[in-house]
Amino acid sequence: MSTEGWSAVVGSPKGLGETRQSGERMSSTRGPVKNGSSRIRRIEREFALHFGADPELRDRCASTIEPLASRSSLTPVEAYRVWAEIDLDALAWNLASIRSRIGAERGVILVVKADAYGHGAVAIAHHALRHGVEAFGVGTSAEALALRKAGLRARLLVLGTIVEDEAPACLRHGVEIAVHSADRCRRLQSLARRMDVRARVHLKIDTGMGRLGVRPERALALLELIHASPSLELSGVMTHVAAPGGALDPHTAAQMREFDRVLGAARERGLLRGWVHAANSACVFTGLDPLYDMVRPGISAYGVLPGNLPGAEELEPVMSLHTQVVFLKDLPAGSEVGYGGTFKTKRSTRIAILPLGYHDGVNWRLGNRGTALVRGERAPIVGRVSMDYTTLDVTHIPQVRVGDRVTLIGRQGEQSIVLEDLARAADTIAYEISCAVGQRVERVYVGGEDIVPRRRARAEPTRTPEPQPSARA
Ligand SMILES: Cc1ncc(COP(=O)(O)O)c(C=O)c1O
Repeated sequence: MSTEGWSAVVGSPKGLGETRQSGERMSSTRGPVKNGSSRIRRIEREFALHFGADPELRDRCASTIEPLASRSSLTPVEAYRVWAEIDLDALAWNLASIRSRIGAERGVILVVKADAYGHGAVAIAHHALRHGVEAFGVGTSAEALALRKAGLRARLLVLGTIVEDEAPACLRHGVEIAVHSADRCRRLQSLARRMDVRARVHLKIDTGMGRLGVRPERALALLELIHASPSLELSGVMTHVAAPGGALDPHTAAQMREFDRVLGAARERGLLRGWVHAANSACVFTGLDPLYDMVRPGISAYGVLPGNLPGAEELEPVMSLHTQVVFLKDLPAGSEVGYGGTFKTKRSTRIAILPLGYHDGVNWRLGNRGTALVRGERAPIVGRVSMDYTTLDVTHIPQVRVGDRVTLIGRQGEQSIVLEDLARAADTIAYEISCAVGQRVERVYVGGEDIVPRRRARAEPTRTPEPQPSARA
């Protein structure tokens, strides 16, 4: 097998695989095999593509590449126990779907906070730039600086708030900040003056979320204050929508009325500058009107629209999560499985042990409730999910062997499990499932060569059926 190839067969040995572009060498039966040098060369190529020959940026990029280089030479690991495949073509497809809904006159601030919802912010932001994203929303200054360190020059906005100590680094690295109070504006003004820079701020107006943001009745006073501060630059005015149903919810209409009222008054007084933005994924896909200058999608770019909102069928899941069987055990009827013995076998049962647990993103509540795919079939998770291990009942799939690929999120043949299925089974939301995929899960980036977004040819995913009664405790 070549150690340098980008094309690799991904999938189990039973014809479930599909050919993928990848920076990783794949073992035909198991997971991807580490191939540090080709991965690093790919990253270098990508950076070069983006940042050209700018020596300063190349130096900065080196700080990202080097740890990968030393890690790959020092780590004797030959195959991943658990890996999340991140499909950059699916990302491009989803961004194109978003664009088709917002029109050419608007831009996208892609939300990449929480490491791009678990997908890996550096690679996602980098690839999204190639697909026309104008700016990125992050949760903290540390996230913004990590992107800067990786060479990203695009506009970055801390969407929520900073704490005071984060301000100098934000100003030094040109990171824009959402502001909510006169106090924060005054402090930023004096810090920016001392640093001899202009602080770019977005005024966040609380029109009904009841969390961060200035109340509408105080917004104009803050806009006046920003206007009068020579070291502050108003780069945007924003609000955040609370209802998961976006424009379909009357609460959103009430929020937008408040927002429009403030915008109108600000415009009349000549105080409005920069981008106006409000729409998250739900608003984009439910047709919020107006969509203002920019939209701020997160989850839809990663291929999910929560709550079965219209348009979900236009999106492709970006993340899939895989592992392999590390142990098989035959238990007689009446045996208990896992912590607390919450599952008791009713017949002779074959248990497959998987080397991933809740630290890796398998929600603890999926114990006795979730399923996984092996050899193209569904197998119920039995017993408690523990920190490092999960147990499946594979009695009905006698051909399962140690080393077989197991898919927790994603597709095998005709079967698929999507984030929303897991969220429903674990009584949580898709956001939490993808964000929880842990740091020790290797992200393997596939695709990303196409400039024109193309949908992958694959069968419609089948939904995950309700868990079998026998799989419940
Ligand atoms: C201020 C802000 N805008 C936009 C988003 C993106 O939301 P979604 O992922 O639902 O599109 C978020 C995410 O929580 C956010 O905090």
